[in-house]
Amino acid sequence: MKIEVRYLSKSGNTAKVAEAVAAAVGVSASPIGEPVAVDTELLFLGGAVYAFGIDESLTQFIAALPQTIGRVAVFSTSAIVKSAYPQIGKALADRSLTVCDEAFHCRGAFKFMHKGRPNAEDLKDAEAFAKRVSGEADV
Ligand SMILES: Cc1cc2nc3c(=O)[nH]c(=O)nc-3n(C[C@H](O)[C@H](O)[C@H](O)COP(=O)(O)O)c2cc1C
Repeated sequence: MKIEVRYLSKSGNTAKVAEAVAAAVGVSASPIGEPVAVDTELLFLGGAVYAFGIDESLTQFIAALPQTIGRVAVFSTSAIVKSAYPQIGKALADRSLTVCDEAFHCRGAFKFMHKGRPNAEDLKDAEAFAKRVSGEADV
């Protein structure tokens, strides 16, 4: 299965999760500047919450994704809100892309909050998520 991992990370938290997800499925993670191949069967897409929403660059990246992608699995980090899944998932659904029901989220350090997150346990959970989602197509 052709798997790709893309992320937007301003302060490095989501990038750590992206690296864990990519390692779990044996590919490399790239920032959203890197285009996604048209024959991608599973795209792991990560972002974070900034000022209650997702960054415009991530919205634009989603708007430009190839319609041919099989499915997209979302991961995110944030300090306060539960997840960026609603916003990222909606942008993907607006493109009629198939979004996996399971998403991954963990806390990300921000100012005095959540020091050290994502931590080793978060990254282990992210790896397990990636393995579950990528295994789905074979069952
Ligand atoms: C400018 C800025 C605005 C943020 N606004 C929010 C917010 O509205 N809600 C929230 O839950 N977290 C907010 N955060 C915290 C980030 O979502 C959190 O630190 C996240 O892990 C950052 O991911 P990154 O390191 O991949 O950029 C904000 C962080 C920054 C830098």
